[in-house]
Amino acid sequence: MTLPTAPETVASVPQEWLPSVPLLALDRQYAAIKHEIRTAIERVCDSGRFVLGPDVTELEAELARALHVPHVISCASGSDALLLALMALDIQPGDEVIVPSYTFFATASAVTRLGAVPIFADIDPLTYLIDPADVERKLSKRTKALIPVHLFGRTADMDAVMPIAKAAGVPVVEDAAQSILSTWHGDCSGGLGDVGCFSFYPTKNLGGAGDGGFLTTTRDDVAAQLKLLRVHGMEPRYYHSLVGINSRLDSIQAAVLRVKLPYLDQWTTARQVNAGRYMELFAEYDLDGRIVVPGDEPRGRHVWNQFVVRVADGRRDALRAHLAAHGVGTEIYYPVPLHLQKCFSFLGWQKGDLPETERAAEETLALPIFPELTADEQRTVVGRIAEFLRAPQVARTPAHAASIDSAITDPPHVLRRSGAVGRADEVRC
Ligand SMILES: Cc1ncc(COP(=O)(O)O)c(C=O)c1O
Repeated sequence: MTLPTAPETVASVPQEWLPSVPLLALDRQYAAIKHEIRTAIERVCDSGRFVLGPDVTELEAELARALHVPHVISCASGSDALLLALMALDIQPGDEVIVPSYTFFATASAVTRLGAVPIFADIDPLTYLIDPADVERKLSKRTKALIPVHLFGRTADMDAVMPIAKAAGVPVVEDAAQSILSTWHGDCSGGLGDVGCFSFYPTKNLGGAGDGGFLTTTRDDVAAQLKLLRVHGMEPRYYHSLVGINSRLDSIQAAVLRVKLPYLDQWTTARQVNAGRYMELFAEYDLDGRIVVPGDEPRGRHVWNQFVVRVADGRRDALRAHLAAHGVGTEIYYPVPLHLQKCFSFLGWQKGDLPETERAAEETLALPIFPELTADEQRTVVGRIAEFLRAPQVARTPAHAASIDSAITDPPHVLRRSGAVGRADEVRC
């Protein structure tokens, strides 16, 4: 494979030598299945059934078959799925729930919304997944659940997490929002613990045309609770045995997702091919020591919701600005770990409490990995990274730092028009 030769300095790169690359291009997916989607939406509109209904029931059955779990209960979002799971497990005010801090906000906010206390565990620096040794250290008599997050599409180390939960006698809620079809020793995520929580947010591997989510469980008692909790605890109509929430999936979402589900396997394979190609390209450029690419996971199927690299020497933000200036979309998942979020300051966590989490928040960068990404676009991404990382380092001055910030927050209009920097509403998590 011939790769563009890295120029001596970033400044010597001709601006137009490579095309721009979006972080995510949902329009490409839509173009391929547009007619099927429109027909499905029209069918729902004709039926006049807009909430739950036959499409939702069918989708739940199809997901149960795809994930090999006995129960699938859909709901209004992945965030609600986490909340419903903790409600079904009867998490009470003051109970402790161990969660990673390096994850999307909803993993911990579901805990605090019930008046329970998130106890943050650090991560493994190579996989960015919850560190089982730290989970063990943070167990207490008040621990009532564990929430491993299968972040970026890689299943957490369930060989270690499940025995810890079993010994402590606490249930495991899998945050599988980013990991649909990922496996662990052949079993699908979501069916490994007591409850699995998934998101249909549009950036996810199976994304709807808006918000949505679902839960999986192998437990009949939990499934029955979840079905009640998502409809205000109502059964029969207007008789409420418990206080639930309103968290139902729309029929239009279900109809769209039913069109997409049969493609999920091939889209997942395309993500895996793209991940493999990135690894080959990075190896060819020989950027060892300057960038760390994710490793393989022999114990399970990684579904690559994100391809996240670690950038050494404090150069992540400058690299991101360089990529933005050349039309390559990237994102930082996540710039502020949850234990340092302002809204959680009442919990008393300090900077330095979770060193690997804090280091990841400063060093990681997500690159485009969506299924329709082309090989040429990937060469562009890696070529741009190489030209930057091989260029001599410039001393950081306040003016230099300010120019990096403005390149990130205010990229050229041409990039915004082309979608190269991603749409703000589509790159939240
Ligand atoms: C790890 C994780 N947990 C939970 C959620 C919440 O899902 P939703 O956006 O559907 O509420 C997301 C993403 O959105 C996520 O990435």
